Amino acid sequence: MYSPFKMWNGTIRSAKKYACLRTTIRFSSVAKHKVCIVGSGPAGFYTAQHLIKNEPNLEIDMFEKLPVPFGLVRYGVAPDHADVKNVINTFTSIAKSGRLQFIGNVTIGKDVTLNDLRTAYDVVVLAYGAAQDRWLGIPGENFENVVSARKFVGWYNGLPEESNLQLNLNVEKAVIIGQGNVALDIARILLTPIEILKKTDIAQHALQALKESKIRNVKLVGRRGPLQVAFTIKELREMIKLPEVSNRIHLEDRDYIEACIPKTPRPRRRITELMLQSADTKQADVKDSSKQWELIFHRTPLEIVKSENQRSVKALVVGINRLKEDNWENPQIEDTGLRETIPCGMIIKSIGYKSLPLSDELPFDHIKGVIRQKEGRVEGMPGVFCSGWVASGPVGVIASTLQSGHDVGKRILDDLRKGICATSTVKPGRDVILSQLATRGVEPVTFVEWETLDNEERERGKNQKKPREKIIDVREMIDIAKKVQS
Ligand SMILES: Cc1cc2nc3c(=O)[nH]c(=O)nc-3n(C[C@H](O)[C@H](O)[C@H](O)COP(=O)(O)OP(=O)(O)OC[C@H]3O[C@@H](n4cnc5c(N)ncnc54)[C@H](O)[C@@H]3O)c2cc1C
Ligand SMILES: NC(=O)c1ccc[n+]([C@@H]2O[C@H](COP(=O)([O-])OP(=O)(O)OC[C@H]3O[C@@H](n4cnc5c(N)ncnc54)[C@H](OP(=O)(O)O)[C@@H]3O)[C@@H](O)[C@H]2O)c1
Repeated sequence: MYSPFKMWNGTIRSAKKYACLRTTIRFSSVAKHKVCIVGSGPAGFYTAQHLIKNEPNLEIDMFEKLPVPFGLVRYGVAPDHADVKNVINTFTSIAKSGRLQFIGNVTIGKDVTLNDLRTAYDVVVLAYGAAQDRWLGIPGENFENVVSARKFVGWYNGLPEESNLQLNLNVEKAVIIGQGNVALDIARILLTPIEILKKTDIAQHALQALKESKIRNVKLVGRRGPLQVAFTIKELREMIKLPEVSNRIHLEDRDYIEACIPKTPRPRRRITELMLQSADTKQADVKDSSKQWELIFHRTPLEIVKSENQRSVKALVVGINRLKEDNWENPQIEDTGLRETIPCGMIIKSIGYKSLPLSDELPFDHIKGVIRQKEGRVEGMPGVFCSGWVASGPVGVIASTLQSGHDVGKRILDDLRKGICATSTVKPGRDVILSQLATRGVEPVTFVEWETLDNEERERGKNQKKPREKIIDVREMIDIAKKVQS
C-alpha cells in the first residue's frame, strides 16, 4: 500500500527520514505562504513561474490528475508539431527549480476537495483547463463514428481515457465541423503520409489505424465565411503543402471577399489572400492526387443521418447561410432556407472545448463553461484564483496562457502582500493533503518519478525511431514511474 513516508524517495522508509526529506524539499525554512496549483498545463506552470521569480517565501505544490505533467502540450498539441512541445523544457526547469513540488495522479474534486485545499493552503490556483466536449445539439450526435475533436485528438495523442475510442476509418469521406486550428490539426493528421507520421510521438494504436485508413477526402465545414475562419496562416500553409494531397476551397462570394480585404488587418489579409490564391492554383491538381481536403463555408450543421441498416453515419445535413450584415469582423448569420446533404462516413466535431466546475461551491458560468472571476480572482472566494483556459474559455495559444499565468501570479502576490488572502492561521500545506491521500489509497507521482517514466517512453521510442512511445495505461505508467523506488 502507498505510504506517505516513502513516496518522495524510495530510500526513505521511516517517518524520521521522511521528516528530514520534508525539510529538504521546502525551499525555505521561513516559508510564509503555501500555494497550490490545480493543473500542470501551461497556465499552471506559467503562474508558478511568476510566483517563483518574484517571491522567495512561497511553498508551491502542483496537483495534476494524470500521473504525467504538461496538459495539452502532451495531449493536445499535434504529434507533428514537435517544436511547439519544446516548451516542456521550460516547464521542466520550473519543476526542478526546487521551489515547486509536482504531485501527479491526484484528481481535485475526487481524491481531494476544493475545500480541503482551501483549508490546507493560503492560496489555491485553479488552472485545470477545459477537458469537456461542447455539443451541437442536433439529431444524430450520438451515432457511431461521430466524435468530438477532443476525443479524437486524445486518441492520437495517447490520452489514457481515449485510447480505446471506437473509430471506423474504413470510410472514404470525413467531415470536420469547425474551422479552427484544432480542425486543421485533425485534417492534417488524417491526410499526412504515414512515413511522416511514424517519426512523430503519435500513439502506436493511432498510427496503426491511420496506416489502414481509407479516408481520402476531408471536408472542413464552417458556418461563416472565409473572412471568419478561426485557423491561422501557418496551419493553413501546412495543409496546402501536404505531400500528395490536393485542396479545394469553395469560394461562393469572391467579389465580396476581395472588396473586404483592404479593410482587414494584416494577419487576416494574408490568410485570406492565401485562400484565394490557393483556390486558383490548386484546382488542376485534384484529379492527380489520391487525397483531398476541402474548405466549405456558410453551412450550419442541422442533422446527422445514418444508413438505414447500419448504426454508422451516412451524411451531414446542413443549412446554407448568408452573412446578416456587411461586417466582416464578427457577422451574424441567417438561414437562407436552402438545405444540402454532404455524404460522409465519419464526422468530427471541432467546435471548441469547455470546462466544468470541480466543486458545487465554485462560482461557474455554465453557458460559457468558465469559472466566474475578475482578473483571475474567483468571485466570492478570497485566496482562490484561476488562470488559463478554465478562466478564459478554450481560446488562445500557449503564449496567451503565459500572459494569463503571469498576470494571475502578479494578482496573487498583490493580494498576499495586502493580506487579502492569507489568514493569521498557519496553514498545514501539503502534509495534511498527503496524509488524506494515503488514507484514501491514492498513489501520488512525483516529478522525479515522472522523469523515470519519461526515460522509459524515450527508450521505447528509440526502437521505433520515434521521439517517444507514450505509455497509455495509467496503472502501467504508475508502476514504471515508481520502478526505481521498489
Ligand atoms: C488539440 C489542441 C492543439 C493545440 N495546439 C497548440 C499549438 O500547436 N500551439 C499552441 O501554442 N497552442 C496550442 N493549443 C492551445 C494550448 O494547448 C492551450 O492554450 C493551453 O494548453 C491551455 O493551457 P491550460 O493550462 O489552461 O490547460 P491544459 O493544458 O488543458 O492543462 C490543464 C491541466 O489540468 C489537469 N486537470 C484537469 N482537471 C483536473 C483536476 N480535477 N485535478 C487535477 N488536475 C486536473 C489536466 O490533466 C491538465 O494537465 C492547442 C490546443 C488544443 C486543444
Ligand atoms: N497550431 C496552433 O497554434 C494551435 C493548434 C490547435 C489549437 N490552437 C488554439 O487552441 C484554441 C482552440 O482551438 P479550436 O479550433 O478548438 O477553437 P476555435 O479556434 O474557437 O474554432 C472553433 C471553430 O468551431 C466553430 N464553431 C463553434 N461553435 C459552432 C457551432 N455550434 N456550429 C458550427 N461551428 C461552430 C467556430 O466557428 P465560428 O467562428 O462561427 O464560431 C470555429 O470555426 C484556439 O485559440 C487555437 O488557435 C492552436
